Amino acid sequence: MDLANTAAVVTGGASGLGAATARALAAKGVKVAIFDLQADKGEALADEIGGVFCKVDVTSDDSVDAGFAAARAAHGQERILVNCAGTGNAAKTAGRSKQDGSIKHFPLDAFDRIIQINLVGTFRCLAKSAAGMLTLAPGEDGERGAIVNTASAAAEDGQMGQAAYSASKAGVVGMTLPIARDLMSEGIRVNTILPGIFDTPLLAAAPQQVRDALAASVPFPKRLGRPEEFAALALTMIECGYFNGEDVRLDGAIRMAPR
Ligand SMILES: NC(=O)c1ccc[n+]([C@@H]2O[C@H](COP(=O)([O-])OP(=O)(O)OC[C@H]3O[C@@H](n4cnc5c(N)ncnc54)[C@H](O)[C@@H]3O)[C@@H](O)[C@H]2O)c1
Repeated sequence: MDLANTAAVVTGGASGLGAATARALAAKGVKVAIFDLQADKGEALADEIGGVFCKVDVTSDDSVDAGFAAARAAHGQERILVNCAGTGNAAKTAGRSKQDGSIKHFPLDAFDRIIQINLVGTFRCLAKSAAGMLTLAPGEDGERGAIVNTASAAAEDGQMGQAAYSASKAGVVGMTLPIARDLMSEGIRVNTILPGIFDTPLLAAAPQQVRDALAASVPFPKRLGRPEEFAALALTMIECGYFNGEDVRLDGAIRMAPR
C-alpha cells in the first residue's frame, strides 16, 4: 500500500505501542486520527504529528461511531486501522486468600470487562472501519485497506492470573484469519501482532529491578521491546500487500514462564 495521502485510525493511540505507531504513520505522510480515553496525552500527540484526537471508548458503540464520524470528517475515509487499545488485570481462577485463607474465584465482572475492551472493542472498531473501507475505490491489486490488531504473547503462553487477558488476546488471534477471509473479496487485509514485553508507560511505572529481571528473561536481545519496533512491524504489515491473515509474535524469542 502506498501510504502517501492516506488516512489512518489508531486506537489506544495516546500511549505506548499505539502512540509509536501513530508517530511512524505520520512520519510517512499519513493523516492520523487517535482514538483513546486519555484526552490530554491524545491531544498533545495529535498536535505533535498534525493529526486529530477523538475521545473514544472502544466498549461503546455510540462513542466509536462518533469517533469514526469525526475522523472521517477531518481526513476522509481511513484506509488503515491499527487497534492498540487494551488493558489487563490479574486474578487467579480460584484460590485462597493470603490474608484469611478464604476461598475466592476470578470476579466475573472483571473477566467480562477485559473481554469487552480487548476482544469486543477490537472487533467493534475493525468491523466499523472495514464497513467504511468498502466505500473506497480499490487501488493496486484491488486493495481497499489494511488492518493491524494487537494481541499478546499471553495469547499463547499466558501466566498465572491472566485467564481473562489471555482469553481476550487469544480471541484476537483466533479471529484474524476468518476476518481476513470475510474481507478478501473486498481487498482488505488483516494481520495481528503478538508483542512480548515492551517498554511502555505500563512498565515504566515498575521498579528498576523488575524491569531488569524482565529484560534478562528475554533470550535475545536481552532488553524490553521498543515501541518503535512494534510500529515498524505494523507498518510492514500495512505496506506489504502480500501480508494477510497472519498472527506474528514480536518478542525476542521469549516464552512466558508460569509466573
Ligand atoms: N506493553 C507490553 O509489553 C504489551 C505486551 C503485549 C501486548 N500489549 C498490548 O498492546 C496494546 C497497547 O499496550 P501499551 O503497552 O501500549 O499500553 P498503554 O497503556 O501505554 O496504551 C494503551 C492505551 O489504550 C487506551 N485504552 C484502554 N482502554 C480503552 C478503551 N476502552 N477505549 C479507548 N482506549 C482505551 C489507554 O487509555 C491507553 O492510552 C494493548 O492492547 C496491550 O494489551 C502490550
